[in-house]
Amino acid sequence: MEWKRKDLITIEELTPEEINLILDTAEPFKEILRRNIKKVPPLRGRTVLNLFFEPSTRTSASFSIAAKRLSAETMSISTSTSSVKKGETLLDTARNLEAMRVDMVVMRHSCEGAPKFLSERIEASVINAGDGNHEHPTQCLLDLSTLRENVKTFKGLKVLIVGDIAHSRVARSNIWGLTKLGAEVSVCAPPTLLPQNIEQLPVNVYYNMDEAIRDKDVIYLLRIQRERQKVGLFPSTREYMNLFSMDRDRLKKTKEDVIIMHPGPINRGVELDGDVADGKHSVILNQVTNGVAVRMAVLYLLNGGNKDEKII
Ligand code: CP
Repeated sequence: MEWKRKDLITIEELTPEEINLILDTAEPFKEILRRNIKKVPPLRGRTVLNLFFEPSTRTSASFSIAAKRLSAETMSISTSTSSVKKGETLLDTARNLEAMRVDMVVMRHSCEGAPKFLSERIEASVINAGDGNHEHPTQCLLDLSTLRENVKTFKGLKVLIVGDIAHSRVARSNIWGLTKLGAEVSVCAPPTLLPQNIEQLPVNVYYNMDEAIRDKDVIYLLRIQRERQKVGLFPSTREYMNLFSMDRDRLKKTKEDVIIMHPGPINRGVELDGDVADGKHSVILNQVTNGVAVRMAVLYLLNGGNKDEKII
């Protein structure tokens, strides 16, 4: 199949075939990234703009590296360096940048729907790099790509997402992505960290971590997103850790071959212990490595690339 969309805004709107197309397209890029010379030509002459209105280490760097590996020219603008600080609207900023013939805009914003708003008003392709509590599609795709390296099939795979589900765009994208590929997704959190519409999402809900972790193939831990919480949603960090942190003792209660994931940034000692994050079950740094290949695949497909084309 061919990629037909101008933009990548959500996982919710993608078909399983589109998700698999991106994952399949990422595979040869993984091989290219293991070479001594990692640069290939498909985006030569193209300009990719990173427009980040929220902090980022992984996503921003990963898109930047992905675009450079594909030979695109890149530029980055953040809140502190843009004229949005002087009162310019987001749309005017984007239109001005487009007037400089930017081809793709990678956008992170604290407002849900901001990348979609922009995608409907500019000709350049827009990629959602995280919008508020809504979605983070490329995080989900790199997670799926990492899981594909570690499991035989998504069909019936039992995945547990633990923590601040209410404020997590990563949880939302992964719930859609995993269930579309056939996995069985559960969430575990205190009631105050679950979204109000949780029953409308295709997930099982647990409130007790020790009960939830027993039979899961994958445990995906989330950071407490204090920057998105308007009020304290649990009594203390210590209490949260006692009830929901993945530590050495809890790890002993999981399946022997359980896979531990986290999107980063990690708060060591809060959602998981350092020795779990760095231990043999963890694929956290593999997720980061695969982020570059997956984002190369997304940029490549949005630029009209074909999965079956040989890339030198
Ligand atoms: N996982 C993730 O989105 O990390 P950053 O916030 O560092 O981009």
